[in-house]
Order: sequence, then structure tokens, then C-alpha cells
Amino acid sequence: MRTAYPLRVKNSVTVYAPAKINLALRVGSPRPDGFHPLNTVFCSLDLYDVIDVEQADELSLELVGCELEVDEHNLALRAARALQTRTGTNHGARITITKTIPVAGGMAGGSANAAGVLVGLNELWDLGLTASELAELGSELGSDVPFCLMGGLAIGTSRGENLVPIRPGFFQSWVLIVNDEGMSTPAVFKKYDELRPEPHEPASIEEIVAALQGSSIDGLVGLLVNDLAEPAFHLRPDIRRTFERAHGSGIATVLSGSGPTIAILCTSDQEADVLAEGLRNDGMRVLRAVGPAVGPHIVRSN
Ligand code: C5P
Repeated sequence: MRTAYPLRVKNSVTVYAPAKINLALRVGSPRPDGFHPLNTVFCSLDLYDVIDVEQADELSLELVGCELEVDEHNLALRAARALQTRTGTNHGARITITKTIPVAGGMAGGSANAAGVLVGLNELWDLGLTASELAELGSELGSDVPFCLMGGLAIGTSRGENLVPIRPGFFQSWVLIVNDEGMSTPAVFKKYDELRPEPHEPASIEEIVAALQGSSIDGLVGLLVNDLAEPAFHLRPDIRRTFERAHGSGIATVLSGSGPTIAILCTSDQEADVLAEGLRNDGMRVLRAVGPAVGPHIVRSN
């Protein structure tokens, strides 16, 4: 059968786009541009949104598995438009995103979708942009998008877009307590500024970075930290209560990003399964994941 497009241009592509958590998130006072300088450790999880892109005349986006309305502010759609503008391509695409990553959960779901769309359309339209060209485009879309393109485990500085990958000493089993009511990242940063108005640099993450590269998970006990936890808890006392109930389980417990997702690091899959079961019996919504996981990857292209 003849294909409607030149051979290297594809008809449809599927990408798995992973969620992230922050194993450390140290925040400084806001810069003149309003963004906060960060010292953070990003970690991808094997919790994926599935992104299907198909050739079409126009750009369109459908979200499956969540109630979010699609509008022009949607980061995945903005990523597709940015790629069109950057390359001058006249292709369109029908984009379908099947959501698993909680919306507004502090796990970079929107940024993961933008990253997955960039990877998928780069392949679909045979644009040939390099990883660093995609990262540059990604950083214009959002602070977390460059990491969402890279995946794995990485130190993030500046507003989070400046990345250095780190080699993990071990893979980790995670229990995630998710919450249906998402949180606004700008609101949490604003509350952070109210609670810490004096000028300051983000604290060092050297100790946790060394522990992550060590040979034993025990070196991480009590080290996971997030400066946005306190402001998030101020805005959402229910999340503080959930955190306090979970605290002391596993190796360490940390709020991810600006919340409300709480991540608990466990020594083994077995320990994580038992903990997840117990938390579910307590009425919490719980997911299991392994991380670090690989970044966005094409699972089908034809
Ligand atoms: O970069 P992104 O658009 O994802 O950021 C969303 C919001 O989060 C920003 O508008 C800002 O309020 C806040 N933010 C910040 N400092 C960062 C990253 C995000 O203040 N380093």
C-alpha cells in the first residue's frame, strides 16, 4: 500500500511520558524575573501518560482519563505549536493523551505531556531536532520540561532547567499517596515567599546527591527534603495530616514538587506492596512506582 507521506515521515507514533518526583527541593528567594532559584533532584518514575500522535491537517488534542478541559493554554498543545513555529513545518497532528499521572499533583504531568509531544512530533514529522535543541525549546515552555525530556535522575539548578544527570547507586521502590484535589504551583511558591521573606540562597543538596550514588539505600534515611512542603501544608492542612500519618513509613517520606502527591521510598517492592495495602485500607488513594525510570520513549512508530 502506498503511504500518503514521504517514507521517513510517519503516520502515527506512540510515546510513553514518565512522571517525576523531587527527592530534594531546596528553594531560594525569588529572582528579578519572579522565578525561584532551586537546588533539586529530579527522579522519573515508571508511571506514564501515553501520547499518541497521528498525521492530520490541523493540530488537535484530546485528553482521555481526566476531566481537564483542553484550551489554548494546554502545555502539550503549546509544545506542538512551538515545534511548528521553530521548524516552519506545515504538518498538523491529532494528539491523544491517555492520562495516568495525577493532574496538578506535583509530578509534572503537564510538563511530561509537553516533553512527550515534542519527542513524538519530532519523530512523526521527521524533524531531526537533537536532544539539546528539544531541551532548549522545552525550557521556554516550562521549568520542568527539560528534565521531563531527559528522564532518569538529575540535579536541577537555576529554575530547574539546568540539568546534570547522576548515576543512581540503586533503583527504588516507591509508594505514592495521591489526592484528587490538585495544587497550584504559583500559589505554593507565593506562600513560600510569605513564610520566608528574607533574601536567601537555596540550601545545598550535596549530602543527598552523595547518598543517591552510594551503594546502600540506608544512606538515604531521613534525607529527602522539600522546602515547598511547609507552604503547601499551610494551604492544605489535609495534606499535612496525610503526610504526618505516612511519616516514618519506609526509608523516607517527601512531598513531591508543589504537592499534593506524597512519595514514600521503600527498601523493596515487597515492603512497598505491604505499605500500599495498609494505606489503601486507611482510605488513601495510592499508586506504586519504580524510579529512576527512563525518560520519554517511543514505543511504536509507523
Ligand atoms: O516554569 P513553569 O511555568 O512550570 O512554572 C510555573 C510557576 O511556578 C511559575 O509561574 C512560578 O510561579 C513558579 N516557579 C517558580 N520558580 C521556579 C519554577 C516555577 O517560582 N523555579
